[in-house]
Amino acid sequence: MGNLERVSRFTSDLATRGLLYAIAQDRIHSPIPLDPKENWAFWAQPQPSLMKWFARAYPPSPIRKAFLDSMLEQDHASGIESHYDVSNDFYALFLDNQYRFYSAADFLHEQDTLEDAQHNKAMYLRSLLRLQGNEKILDLGCGWGAMLKLLRDQGHSGELTGFTLSKEQLAYVQELGFNVSLTNFITTPFEHKPFDRILSIGALEHVRPDEVEIIHQKIYAALAPGGLAVHQFFSLEYEPYPASMVMIQLFFPGSLLVMHPVHIEAAKQAGFHITHDSIHDYKPTLRAWYDRLVAHREQALNLVGLETYNRYMTFFPISWLFFEQNEAKLHRVVMEKSVA
Ligand SMILES: C[S@@+](CC[C@H](N)C(=O)[O-])C[C@H]1O[C@@H](n2cnc3c(N)ncnc32)[C@H](O)[C@@H]1O
Repeated sequence: MGNLERVSRFTSDLATRGLLYAIAQDRIHSPIPLDPKENWAFWAQPQPSLMKWFARAYPPSPIRKAFLDSMLEQDHASGIESHYDVSNDFYALFLDNQYRFYSAADFLHEQDTLEDAQHNKAMYLRSLLRLQGNEKILDLGCGWGAMLKLLRDQGHSGELTGFTLSKEQLAYVQELGFNVSLTNFITTPFEHKPFDRILSIGALEHVRPDEVEIIHQKIYAALAPGGLAVHQFFSLEYEPYPASMVMIQLFFPGSLLVMHPVHIEAAKQAGFHITHDSIHDYKPTLRAWYDRLVAHREQALNLVGLETYNRYMTFFPISWLFFEQNEAKLHRVVMEKSVA
């Protein structure tokens, strides 16, 4: 793409999608790999207040909403699938090499590696599941099978099932010997129910506002009496259609986050008792993925090419900024179904 075309796209993005979208799009299409230090500093350093104000206020909410509504009309599942189907080898370059979690970890000590932090997170979630050892468990959005693997490694003997939308993930998790299927948990009835536990890590983010009621009802119906749902996900804190949701279309076309109280209310309406809701920090994990991607720059460029490399180099610091500005928070929530 020539300079003139680049300027013309920037101007058009600026006018219709806003400042940060235009900058992000321009960086993704940079003709050279983004400079790690400059790029992180650009997104993470405090922005001048005028720029911050403009980034939040423009486009005005009716234009923003109209654009997002048009994005929501498109096939949502294919936008999710394409994010995860980039290449298993590419994700392996920056995810922890023990489990391949693509979700927030717990860095508890200064010297914790990404592997330690993912283990800490997984053990925390395992404790929330309150397992005896033989429960039948469903992992909604199981990714590369990380939590299924941890449960098996910890000696869980009950049946373990996973759903994903990604063919690349499916192939990988089936190799590990798990019962995983390409099942869209929004549109497809759950098979093999009832389950004693249903968990999701980093998957409810993909549930859009008009799908929230149905997903909590489906989870409730698929649980045995006395069963538990345990979820880790991030949700919006204070505004249903923030400007950041326009920018997120660059990474997850057709996605829209939900306000946290909307999730909780829908779960309660479905019949759940909420017995745990804690807040955790996503930022250290995003920084760790970024550093590992940078450390494997040449392999990444060979595997996925310049545009995808620059896309992830842009995605991680933008996501970091999103949490830094408290637009969303990462929650761990336990939802209980009564015995009778
Ligand atoms: C951020 S990844 C997290 C993966 C894994 N739980 C982990 O912690 O590493 C989100 C996962 O949710 C899955 N997912 C999102 N929406 C889905 C849907 N509607 N049906 C099935 N899987 C879905 C994706 O395929 C992906 O595996």
